[in-house]
Amino acid sequence: MSTNILDMETLALDEEERALVIIDQTKLPNRAEYLHLKTQGEIWTAIRELQVRGAPAIGDAAAIGIYLAALEIDTDDYDEFARRFHATADYLNSSRPTAVNLSWALNRMEAVVKNAAGKSIPEIRSLLRNEALRIKQEDIDICKKIGEHALTLVKPGYGLLTHCNAGQLATAKYGTATAVMYLGHQKGYNFKIYADETRPLLQGARLTAYELSAAGMDVTLICDNMASTVMKNGWIDAVFVGCDRVAANGDVANKIGTSGVAILAKHYGIPFYVCAPSSTIDMNTPTGKDIHIEQRAPKEVTDMWYKERMAPKDVNVYNPAFDVTDHELITAIVTEEGVVSDLEHLTSNKI
Ligand code: MRU
Repeated sequence: MSTNILDMETLALDEEERALVIIDQTKLPNRAEYLHLKTQGEIWTAIRELQVRGAPAIGDAAAIGIYLAALEIDTDDYDEFARRFHATADYLNSSRPTAVNLSWALNRMEAVVKNAAGKSIPEIRSLLRNEALRIKQEDIDICKKIGEHALTLVKPGYGLLTHCNAGQLATAKYGTATAVMYLGHQKGYNFKIYADETRPLLQGARLTAYELSAAGMDVTLICDNMASTVMKNGWIDAVFVGCDRVAANGDVANKIGTSGVAILAKHYGIPFYVCAPSSTIDMNTPTGKDIHIEQRAPKEVTDMWYKERMAPKDVNVYNPAFDVTDHELITAIVTEEGVVSDLEHLTSNKI
């Protein structure tokens, strides 16, 4: 894999097909370091520690990861293989709770095994390999379609705001919220893009600002608390964000801070678009209140930027990694199937 950000792949099966290769997102933008993950433990940790992150990328990584784990299940017995495969799926699924793409991808891999009863283990492994690579390729195709649909919502010269990183680094290619930016850039749309830094882990500063500027786009980094000002200044024509789970009533979980941006957008009359593959819609979760929001370590808030601690020792910390944006605040959800604005009736929309 190349070290040029524009050519690089977020994740891939290595040439020998014995490791999942990821760019370590905790090291960006200063260093492009690749990790070769071989064991299920290494893959679990890479997801948990955000070395690979972003809802679709987590799903892709888990699919390739569980294929690699299947190579290590040394039995010829189908029942034994299926039992150990299921245990591995449960284990990988425990790495992060909020993005439904993780369980969605693992369920697809599990379905391959369930439907292959009677086949030899080498045959099943080969089917698993194909499914994992299909999931990754579908991610690329879907993101491109999301971008094409989102292009119908913008005009050349628009000011666009985004939060967190729903970019190429969060998917296999194009990103979800950034697909419109990549495709528009190819058409010479000259967007003026504002990237929220995204406290506490700075995915906006470290990843979004990095990948969009590397692609030659006009991107301006702002602190999260500046979003209101740039909107008030009239610089933002539309907000595009990604998401980790859409509940059946259209409520959306995305990176902490997203709901605040949506409230601001509503106040200033700016359209607020959520971009996601339709696999992110979870009809088994009735409303946003039912979404499991990941809580992360206090250290992410207290020790982020300085070698020395930047908060008093033993201070209480609340560090939810995601929040829920109520569907009333969302202008439309853009999936590979199209633009859906009737969010209260997601079930009756064909998406
Ligand atoms: O904690 P992260 O960095 O995995 O959070 C990522 C986000 O919230 C993204 O906006 C979301 O996963 C969509 S990625 C296309």
